[in-house]
Amino acid sequence: MRQSTEPYRPIYHFLPPANWMNDPNGLLQWRGRYHLFYQYNPTGAFHGTIHWGHAVSDDLVRWRDLEIALAPTPGGPDKDGVFSGCAVGREGVPTLVYTGIFPEVQCVAEAADPNDPDLAVWRKHPANPVIAAPPAGLEVQGFRDPFVWREADGWYCAVGSGIEGGGGLVLLYRSPDLVHWEYLHELCRGEADESGLLWECPNFFPIGGKHVLLVSSIPLNKVLCLVGDYRQHRFTPARTTILDDGGSFYAPQVMLDERGRRLMWGWLREDRDAQAQLAAGWSGVLSLPTELSMNGDGTLRLRPVAELTSLRAAHRQYRDVTIRPVQDNRFDSIAGTRLEIQAVFAPGAASQVGLYLFQSRDGVERTCVFFDSDRQELVIDRERSSLDPGTVRDVRSAPLRLPPDGVLTLRVFLDGSVIEVFANDRVCLTSRVYPTLADSRGVRPFANGAAAALRSLDVWDMLSIWPSGMRATPTRSPM
Ligand code: FRU
Repeated sequence: MRQSTEPYRPIYHFLPPANWMNDPNGLLQWRGRYHLFYQYNPTGAFHGTIHWGHAVSDDLVRWRDLEIALAPTPGGPDKDGVFSGCAVGREGVPTLVYTGIFPEVQCVAEAADPNDPDLAVWRKHPANPVIAAPPAGLEVQGFRDPFVWREADGWYCAVGSGIEGGGGLVLLYRSPDLVHWEYLHELCRGEADESGLLWECPNFFPIGGKHVLLVSSIPLNKVLCLVGDYRQHRFTPARTTILDDGGSFYAPQVMLDERGRRLMWGWLREDRDAQAQLAAGWSGVLSLPTELSMNGDGTLRLRPVAELTSLRAAHRQYRDVTIRPVQDNRFDSIAGTRLEIQAVFAPGAASQVGLYLFQSRDGVERTCVFFDSDRQELVIDRERSSLDPGTVRDVRSAPLRLPPDGVLTLRVFLDGSVIEVFANDRVCLTSRVYPTLADSRGVRPFANGAAAALRSLDVWDMLSIWPSGMRATPTRSPM
């Protein structure tokens, strides 16, 4: 039996009631409440005229979607779209800094009433655009996605760009008031053949004694994480890695919350064709909020925020099971498409150890997430994830070394069409899958090459983040 498309719609990842969303924007905790803005097209499930959607949360988990915060102003510098940007609090006033397009310029909007707990109304600054053009004398393509932070001597802003005919570029500006900006210099420049032509959505922040620059690269379609040192307002990257190479994660934004946590959300793109997205009436979803910190070896540590455990419902648990490379029906009762799974393996001599997910009873459809010990990689294999030829069905991987005790801990979140995998808090792979068979719900641990020890397997059903019965289906009809 074929299932309807609605099972693909996530229930515990944020997405608007209907239509298109892409990048998270303007992440801010204001007087305790989390504010999340997002690139939004109110007219359908495609990237059309972009507005800023707005949602609020008191617990980082359950969100309330509000009215659109920023819409293009006819005749204004953002008349053709309100592109990505960030939020800061300036002298008690929440302020959004974003890109208006055609041409790309930087603009500012302020909360009309900082005492409104929802910060529902925003006023565009009369001085817009506050940065009217790229620096004179630089031939660039792309000039967007301002990311602002405070230093002792003023506000700093990184803008994403690329050198015409060259590599990605981040431009650095300074301002006393978020309105008057002075161009300083390039914060960082990449090589076209290594890191792409244009860097979108820069994020720049200190963490664990280092500085991190995140950029989303065109045409790589990947998020690069550059770790290095920041001195005299110059950034020297020492190491570049790919942040979440699962195929879906893009344009993340990072914020510092009132508890001092560095939290990150990314846009999870669809991996089914445009027609299917239009038919569904929605497209795009946010990743789970992830807390960033630094490992002792200078790599980023990624952990889903602790608050998410409040979504755990019915629980199944297995302890100390040997997994052999043979047909195994001991786990036949584990099934579900909205789950959190925590599996602790000691792979031993097994060449591959991991989980089959979204597996149909006949095994025709399934997605595999595993550690490959020969290649020292975490792998997500979507080749058999769906019978639908309009979906992406590839194999993605990321380097992963197990710690000296040889233990692999996988934390996997399944939500309709979303798979987010965190391995040993170090590597994250996020992918989208669209199984077509109604029974593609199985979860099964497996080992290849030799037996492996499964020290523990915990599986929780996950609750919806929306009030009961609400928003199981898109409710906001296209305008
Ligand atoms: C990244 C991006 C940004 C831009 C926005 C437009 O996904 O292309 O560079 O501001 O999306 O929606």
